[in-house]
Amino acid sequence: MGLRYTITFLIGLGILFSCQSSKKEADGLEEVKASKDEFFIVPGEDELLDSLRVKSGKVLISYSDCFECHKLDQDATGPSFSDIARRYPSNQTYVEFLARKVISGGSGTWGTPVMRAHPSLSQNDAEKMVTYILSLDF
Ligand code: HEC
Repeated sequence: MGLRYTITFLIGLGILFSCQSSKKEADGLEEVKASKDEFFIVPGEDELLDSLRVKSGKVLISYSDCFECHKLDQDATGPSFSDIARRYPSNQTYVEFLARKVISGGSGTWGTPVMRAHPSLSQNDAEKMVTYILSLDF
């Protein structure tokens, strides 16, 4: 009898500790995977975005397939553009990084849905599109 209680107690303690350690990881902002409802903000400096590139990015997006899967401020197949803007710092490093992701496509950062690749998009045009998206931080 006594042994059973000890074992139950130890299992309980184990569960308690594993919950606490996963909370610590979340606080550390290291984890980049997230669901669409709850995501970690990537820390970094914001820079002033080039308003001409923002404008041409908006036009390029309206002529592309982006709105098949994205909405401005609501989740769809892909995360909303305003959530993307909230998540990433507005600076050239992230513009380049996200533009490469738009070109290559992929999944796993926001969940299981897949963004198709856009191989015919130039890095420069993809960067303009992302510059527009990162300007939607509302
Ligand atoms: C077939 C649906 C689909 C289309 C079309 C699409 N996206 Fe996406 N997009 C997604 C999904 C799904 C994700 C989330 C990917 C992930 O979780 O890694 C995403 C993520 C993104 C991200 C954030 C990437 C990251 O790693 O956080 C950006 C920026 C983006 N899309 C821009 C675009 C642009 C610009 C276009 C048009 C050229 C576009 N998307 C077209 C589905 C799509």
